[in-house]
Amino acid sequence: MDLYEYQAKELFAAHGVPTLPGSVATDPNGAKAAAEELGGPVVVKAQVKAGGRGKAGGVKLAESPTEAREKAEAILGLDIKGHVTRQVLVTEASDIADEYYFSYLLDRANRRFLAIASVEGGMEIEEVAATKPEAVAQVPIDPIRGVDEATAREIVEAARFPASIADQVADIAVKLWEAFVAEDATLAEINPLVSDPQGTVLALDGKVTLDGNASFRQPKQAELVDEGAEDPLEAKAKAKDLNYVKLDGEVGIIGNGAGLVMSTLDVVAYAGEGHNGVKPANFLDIGGGASAEVMAAGLDVILGDSDVKSVFVNVFGGITACDAVANGIVQALGMLGDEASKPLVVRLDGNNVEQGRAILAEANHPLVTVVDTMDGAAEAAAELAAGK
Ligand SMILES: Nc1ncnc2c1ncn2[C@@H]1O[C@H](COP(=O)(O)OP(=O)(O)OP(=O)(O)O)[C@@H](O)[C@H]1O
Ligand SMILES: [Mg+2]
Repeated sequence: MDLYEYQAKELFAAHGVPTLPGSVATDPNGAKAAAEELGGPVVVKAQVKAGGRGKAGGVKLAESPTEAREKAEAILGLDIKGHVTRQVLVTEASDIADEYYFSYLLDRANRRFLAIASVEGGMEIEEVAATKPEAVAQVPIDPIRGVDEATAREIVEAARFPASIADQVADIAVKLWEAFVAEDATLAEINPLVSDPQGTVLALDGKVTLDGNASFRQPKQAELVDEGAEDPLEAKAKAKDLNYVKLDGEVGIIGNGAGLVMSTLDVVAYAGEGHNGVKPANFLDIGGGASAEVMAAGLDVILGDSDVKSVFVNVFGGITACDAVANGIVQALGMLGDEASKPLVVRLDGNNVEQGRAILAEANHPLVTVVDTMDGAAEAAAELAAGK
């Protein structure tokens, strides 16, 4: 789960990482009141789970409470990379002498954590890494040892933070690591980390991703979920206990087993290259048990996606054999009735495949095409999606 900037900074502050005071408002008058409370110039910042807010007009300075109200009016409702702004953070404005970058993240490929730090702030770190790689320090973090004082110094030196602020940055490095571990985060990023003209270092922005697999031991984090901001299809799938991720293509995907679904995404993307560049519309793993109810729930979510033009059902019969899955598909289509309105390409293989195919042939549903191979089915589904 990604956090909003204000949530990330509250979490930082709780672990001793310095931030500026501020509060969240959902309407312009609330922003004005927040600015009055803070006193002095403020910055009004769109709270959306996307970067590049500054460039999109989502971060604005306001000298007075009235101006804060005007800026909030302009920012609320703003669409930033597909995320509509429903709340703003009103926070103290800081004089900035220098902008830096600091983050911890999970380095899956190398099975450890990584600290990334740079004194070249104010730009996107990807851009700095591409144009000036020597300015981006990457320090591996041993998960057992973590970031102690010595490791913090190592990071500060590797990134060549100025000596005048080295102690403060090292202290922030240790505290940010404590926050990262205590909250089971997979990303904790400060961009920009700034120093003000007096030489005080603080976090002006924060981005945190929490590890959903640890939610069982982080009961307090449930409060951080913003249900209103969830993708409606993802929320529907979650309510039905489905493993669903919305993607931006046109071919709906249903499979059993995460590995099979991942490779289905690959073959569909590959087949789509020959058909107007159509792509997978989602990831959906209905798991081993593939009952009619689960199949119906999955089809219901996918058919409710207006971007979907065709659906590829890719099932490998294992513990649940193909005949049971075929019955599930037929019953699911029966349950959905007229709501099932898009062509389905079904590929079955594995246990009782002949019986499964016979059941689908017998049902002879007008929307269903059975294709024997995975590549052939991907091709057919991509062609149907491109043709509509
Ligand atoms: N409290 C503040 N006081 C003064 N300036 C600020 C404050 N907060 C943000 N800024 C300025 O606005 C810029 C963008 O803010 P921030 O990093 O929070 O948003 P962002 O979504 O990461 O934007 P971008 O990707 O465009 O940099 C910062 O780099 C900083 O220069
Ligand atoms: Mg930023």
